[in-house]
Amino acid sequence: MNFVKKLDSAPSLYFLPENKEPDFFSEDLKNYIFKERAFEGKAKESLVYIGPKTDNIILVGLGKEEDLEADTYVQAGYRAYKLAQENKLEGLNLSVEAFGDIHPAKALQDTVEGLYQGAYHFDSYLKEKKERRLKEVHIHSELEDQEALIQEVSHLMEAVYAARDFVNAPANDLYPESFAQRVLDLFKDLDVDIRVYDEKEVKDMGMEALLAVGKGSDRPVRFLVAKYLPLGEDQEAITLVGKGMTYDSGGYALKPARSMDTMKSDMAGAATAVASLYALAKNQVQENVVAIFAAAENMVSGGAVRNGDIIGSMKGSTIEVNNTDAEGRLILADALYYAASQVNSKAIIDMATLTGAAIAALGYDITAALTNDQELLDGLLATSRATGEGMWQLPITPGIREKTKSKVADLDNSSRTYRVAGTIYAAAFLEHFVEGKPWIHLDIAGPAYKDSPSGYLPYGATGVPVKTLYHYIKKQK
Ligand code: BES
Ligand code: ZN
Ligand code: ZN
Repeated sequence: MNFVKKLDSAPSLYFLPENKEPDFFSEDLKNYIFKERAFEGKAKESLVYIGPKTDNIILVGLGKEEDLEADTYVQAGYRAYKLAQENKLEGLNLSVEAFGDIHPAKALQDTVEGLYQGAYHFDSYLKEKKERRLKEVHIHSELEDQEALIQEVSHLMEAVYAARDFVNAPANDLYPESFAQRVLDLFKDLDVDIRVYDEKEVKDMGMEALLAVGKGSDRPVRFLVAKYLPLGEDQEAITLVGKGMTYDSGGYALKPARSMDTMKSDMAGAATAVASLYALAKNQVQENVVAIFAAAENMVSGGAVRNGDIIGSMKGSTIEVNNTDAEGRLILADALYYAASQVNSKAIIDMATLTGAAIAALGYDITAALTNDQELLDGLLATSRATGEGMWQLPITPGIREKTKSKVADLDNSSRTYRVAGTIYAAAFLEHFVEGKPWIHLDIAGPAYKDSPSGYLPYGATGVPVKTLYHYIKKQK
């Protein structure tokens, strides 16, 4: 999609709330709307009045001005793209006026985001690709810095697309080594220092938990550290840590086929960590940020970790692996400890498709957020309300911390007797490895991947919560 100067022959598209009759309506259009009761401005409503002898106009309803939601303009931009597509338009003049208490810059950026949301397709594996007709969009707003605002959100959506493409890629093509290589390719023109550690180097660093999870697979593990330090190496960084299970069969605690078939998406945390860093670096946000992921494939073989094994970790704590399907917390244990001990982190945020229990608790639209630093999380929750990427806090309770102790090792990766509050249990386990640093854990098992499209989010990978992380970190500077 290209953003261009006004297109003479293309239709004009306007967003309108209810009960608003703008002065650009011609008598002809007014009569048409009145006679046909064709448009009232309701949310999700639209009017396409294009062709010869018409005003060549499309209207998209926003609903009541006082009821506009944080992402109303994203929805409207998405509708605009779909209407253009349905009407086979190659160009569109889109006017963005901010209504209600939506800031004009947000209205503009959200609209552009909506266009990108509408345009996303994962079709690299399809022989016949769907044609994307809409090539040129002219955006009209009253904003002087319109171009810079469009560019910023285009970079952000490039990052969201990258996260989605990583997650949608099947595990036969995207495994730890190829995942790391794709990240190197993505960042090749940016001033980000990336180091990929291979299996031997992971061993040398003492990451025994990561190795234990990966050893059942023919595809060796990788550990990736990407540093974007515009403030200089001596300044502290916000460190993003991701779970990078390129496939989670469950291991010996094998998943049923029904739950296994989407487990190529179990590296969504890692994808969102690097994609957020990409958006920040591409927009040259002045904040030190480090993105880290541990990548492995959880498989079954004669060499795989067994239910009941006791393994080590980089921190030195021993872990009883009661359940090989609770593998995410094992690889995160080493990645979090690395973030806390080897990086000058002022805050650590991890993202992981960690527990089915998060889906049971909050469904597919809401990320579960847990923390050891309430103030840190309050800031992130406020940002998530503005981006429309829902998050809800769950507590980490002393009682559940107690349950993570094993009788025969320092920690139990999954309790044999305590079978409730799985998301909290996992967070209490992870907390052990952050060495008291300010930390947020985001369990994205629900929102990372969709079995069917939902609103402007597509089937498959969503890229949630890249937008929130980007805006949150940008606000810190
Ligand atoms: N990757 C899964 C969690 C998951 C489930 C993500 C559904 C996305 C959709 C994770 O590794 C897992 O299997 N967790 C277990 C933990 C249990 C064995 C303690 C779970 O949630 O059942
Ligand atoms: Zn698992
Ligand atoms: Zn998993």
